[in-house]
Formats: sequence, C-alpha cells, structure tokens
Amino acid sequence: MNATKSENAFSFADTLNGENEFDSDEDDFESENEIEFENEIEFENETEFENENSGEPAPSFSTGKVKKKIIEVKDLDLWYGNNHALKNISIGIPKNKVFAFIGPSGCGKSTFLRTMNRMNDMISNCRIEGEIYIDNENIYAKETDVNDLRKRVGMVFQKANPFPMSIYDNVAYGPRIHGVSKKKIPGIVEESLKGAALWKEVKDRLKDSAFSLSGGQQQRLCIARTLAVKPEIILFDEPCSALDPISTRKIEELITKLKKEYTIIIVTHNMQQAARISDYTAFFLSGELVETGKTVHIFENPQDERTEGYITGRFG
Ligand SMILES: Nc1ncnc2c1ncn2[C@@H]1O[C@H](COP(=O)(O)OP(=O)(O)OP(=O)(O)O)[C@@H](O)[C@H]1O
Ligand SMILES: [Mg+2]
Repeated sequence: MNATKSENAFSFADTLNGENEFDSDEDDFESENEIEFENEIEFENETEFENENSGEPAPSFSTGKVKKKIIEVKDLDLWYGNNHALKNISIGIPKNKVFAFIGPSGCGKSTFLRTMNRMNDMISNCRIEGEIYIDNENIYAKETDVNDLRKRVGMVFQKANPFPMSIYDNVAYGPRIHGVSKKKIPGIVEESLKGAALWKEVKDRLKDSAFSLSGGQQQRLCIARTLAVKPEIILFDEPCSALDPISTRKIEELITKLKKEYTIIIVTHNMQQAARISDYTAFFLSGELVETGKTVHIFENPQDERTEGYITGRFG
C-alpha cells in the first residue's frame, strides 16, 4: 500500500501536457455541432466535489465528503450463479465529467457498467444486492420504469451495432418509439448527428443504409442514436477498441465535448485514452474497486500498489 510513484510510472503529464488537449478547439465544435434540443436537460443542481481543487483524491460514496453525485452506488454485490463478479462496490459519479473504468479483462468493468441501466436484468442467473441511486432515485426499486431508465442512461458498445435500416431511421428510431411527434423528428435527427460529429459526413446520404458507413462512422451513428433520446448519462464500453487511430481520436474528442451536457462513463483498456479524456478513474481488480480518484492522481500517484502495477503494465 501507499506505493510511491515509480520511475516507470505512466506519465500522465506527458500525455496531457498539463491540460486537456481537446479543449483548445472548443469554439469550432460549438459553432458547428452544438446540441440544442427543445427539452434540453438543465443542470441547475450542479454537483461538484467539495475538494475539487484541493488535490485530494475523489472520495468514494462512503467517505461522507461527497456533496451530491448524479450516480451513487452503495455496497453493490453481483453474482452470476456462484461467480461473485462485483464485490461491495461503493462509488460516486459526478455530473458532467468523464469517469474511466480500468482493470484487467474479466475484472467486472462491463458488468458494473451494465448495472447502471439494469442491462443485467436480462441475464437469468444474475443476482444483485446493494443500491444504485441516479438523481437520488434507487434504480433497483420496484417502482422503477426500466424503459425510462434506459432512456436516461444510454449505452454505446464496443462493436458498433447500427440497426439494419437507413442512417436517418437509426437516429429517428428512439424518438419514434418514445412517441415524439412526427414533425419534431427531422430536427432531432439533425441535432443528434451534429452532436455526434457525423452530420457533415452524412447529410447528403441520410437514406443510405447504416451499413454503408465506415466502422468509425457507424460508432458515431450509434452515439447519435443514443443522443436522440436525450439521455442524462452515457455509458461507453470500450467504444474505440475496434477503431483506427483517426476514428479513435474523433470519438475521444467527441466524448470530451459531450461531457458539457452529459455525464460520461467509459470502460477502456487503453491507459493513454483514460489519461487523455477522463477526469476521474476507477481501477477494478477481480470484482473489487481497488482505487478511485482524479485521473491525474490515479496515474501519477496511485495509493495502492496493485493500481501502480496495472498502470505501469506489470500485469493485466
Ligand atoms: N452474461 C454473463 N453470464 C455469466 N457470467 C458472466 C456474464 N458476463 C460476465 N460474466 C463473468 O463476470 C466476470 C466479469 O466479466 P465482465 O465482462 O464484466 O469483465 P470485464 O472487466 O468487462 O472484462 P473485459 O475487459 O474482457 O471486457 C467474469 O468472470 C465473466 O466471466
Ligand atoms: Mg468488458
């Protein structure tokens, strides 16, 4: 425990040059891709850590230092049959930030992500104990409307999974099934494609099949499809693992922009990616949350030697 930074420690500073590299072209993005939904979500209850600038690690739910988080997970356990896949997880996820989940294969990252919009409900031998609050509502309470939850908590998967229909219809699909009036749909499609930084590339081919797009474009289409139902939170499960470096960069840049309006959680195996785009990081190992805090602290001064071992590539 309390490992000091090793000579070989992953250099967060080298990766970022001290600041978020995507912040510089902010104005360009806003002018071209600004999302202006009619029912835009308001973030009037802005929540921050009390110690936002104090240099202390981000506290977990149980420390009592947290003012308020959009997601609060308390003593969460999950089993697949006898496999205890998540062990007593407590964590708070702040609003309008990018939170990265890292850890070796099989440690439970995707499982944990899926608990946040109850995707695990579909797995028959999956059992959950504990609580997850989103906006102070326990999402595992009996009265929770799971369809509404999945609208509020969107998900983008590792492999782009467009529906077998046109580009336009992919994005219109969610608003249509949620009963949005017909005349609002073209505007939502356009705004969502702009929000996903895809509009310019597809505006003249909206009727083409989604499968005619490249892999990176398909992934941005899936992001547009998620934005179209106006979620509060977007879960990304290794969204770039099948993409080339240029498409990866586009998605990373997009995620950095999206956090202004959405809370983002991203699972990634790419340490540089976690360092580049996330504000907070949580390191998981064998179903346990080993350490969480501001990304700069996790990478530059991890408190647990297992975290250090993982980020310096000694295992995983
Ligand atoms: N649908 C399922 N049914 C039964 N066991 C599962 C299921 N999904 C995951 N598991 C098990 O739960 C554990 C955690 O798996 P999970 O997919 O969450 O890991 P992960 O950290 O996302 O790994 P990776 O980095 O390889 O995607 C593993 O032991 C896995 O075998
Ligand atoms: Mg996974």
